[in-house]
Amino acid sequence: MSKVRVLTGITTSGTPHLGNYVGAIRPTVRASRLDNVESFFFLADYHALIKIDEPARIQRSTLEIAATWIACGLDPAKVTFYRQSDIPEIPELTWFLTCVTGKGLLNRAHAYKAAVDKNTATQNEPDDGVTAGLFMYPVLMAADILMFNAHQVPVGRDQIQHIEMARDMASSFNHLYGEHFTLPEAVIEESVATLPGLDGRKMSKSYDNTIPLFAPRDQLKKLIMGILTDSKAPGEPKNTEGSALFQIYQAFATPDETAALAQAYADGIAWGDAKHLLFERIDREIAPMRATYDQLMAHPEQVEALLQTGGQKARTIATPFTARLKHAVGLRPLQATSQPKRGKNEKTALPAFKQYREKDGFFYFKLADAKGQVLLQSLGFASPKEAGQAIAQLKSEGYTNCRDLHSQIAATDPNAAEAALDTLRNAE
Ligand code: TRP
Repeated sequence: MSKVRVLTGITTSGTPHLGNYVGAIRPTVRASRLDNVESFFFLADYHALIKIDEPARIQRSTLEIAATWIACGLDPAKVTFYRQSDIPEIPELTWFLTCVTGKGLLNRAHAYKAAVDKNTATQNEPDDGVTAGLFMYPVLMAADILMFNAHQVPVGRDQIQHIEMARDMASSFNHLYGEHFTLPEAVIEESVATLPGLDGRKMSKSYDNTIPLFAPRDQLKKLIMGILTDSKAPGEPKNTEGSALFQIYQAFATPDETAALAQAYADGIAWGDAKHLLFERIDREIAPMRATYDQLMAHPEQVEALLQTGGQKARTIATPFTARLKHAVGLRPLQATSQPKRGKNEKTALPAFKQYREKDGFFYFKLADAKGQVLLQSLGFASPKEAGQAIAQLKSEGYTNCRDLHSQIAATDPNAAEAALDTLRNAE
């Protein structure tokens, strides 16, 4: 049975909170224990540099997230657990993908577009404050995924577009250089409701309403006591619907426990008592993991050692795969013979230019695809030399860039023509 490769990363820019645990960490760790999956979990610290320029914070967050994953039951012996920046092949692959990614594709990335829209709304330069790192974010993320040929990538909704872009990049690369990459799919955990935060809105760092997963017991209690409720007095029946407290409880409790709390709501439990129940319920699940977490936080060298081992394991895949990709794109020893990736059938199936002379005495050409469909049709040139020069220019620059030729050429399908010219160029 071939295994499903599941890969996910967390940006090392913060401290894990209960929402991360319920929505991402707990389900992925559980899934990683299944027999038919091969999991890759990593700390996306190159991604953190895009948002954060405080070295100590990145280091701290890396330790916190690594310790969290292990404390939550990730088994480093079963999964491949590593830090992105320990895999130098990832930035190498980022460059290969950069070279097959349309700038226009990246222009459409939500995060970049949001930054541009904000600038436009405030009458700033569109790219004001936008780093090339932010712009390139999707390419780095695609490299993370494609390096290990992941089939499935569990992510939040906001990341779906990034996975689609990774698919696009994989297809472009495969088209040009042969089938090297698996096309990944996003896996969205539908059943996991987003956890509300202290103020009832989605728990999120950007709302400053989070409960750190491994806050010390006292602090956890204090935070839970601060969850927003309505002003119903003890003895008054309470609504479970719209109650952040109830929703958080549900994310930790069994169905029976949840039903019991619903009954208590109906019976008019005091908010203070309900909060107490919630605190004890969460602490029951978290406390054993917190002990491991605290222990790991006190011994960063142990976490470091695990990551080193994981990095080596990851590189047993990344190093040979990158060597193969380098060879495929032509970065290879000079004595190496090129191994054309195209099979015989494909070779005969290349698009082709046809030059001919018409009765009017002028010299014409057309570009047809493998099936003979005409993609470009020229008007008459005075000499075969001129027609040949136009063909050479199209081959080297592509259709779109040859603006000076557009008056001489009719394109029935400019995109297909562009793709055909790409194919020809790469076949040479
Ligand atoms: N962009 C992801 C996030 O912010 C983190 C991430 C980086 C990631 N590389 C990845 C997730 C590859 C999945 C796969 O949540």
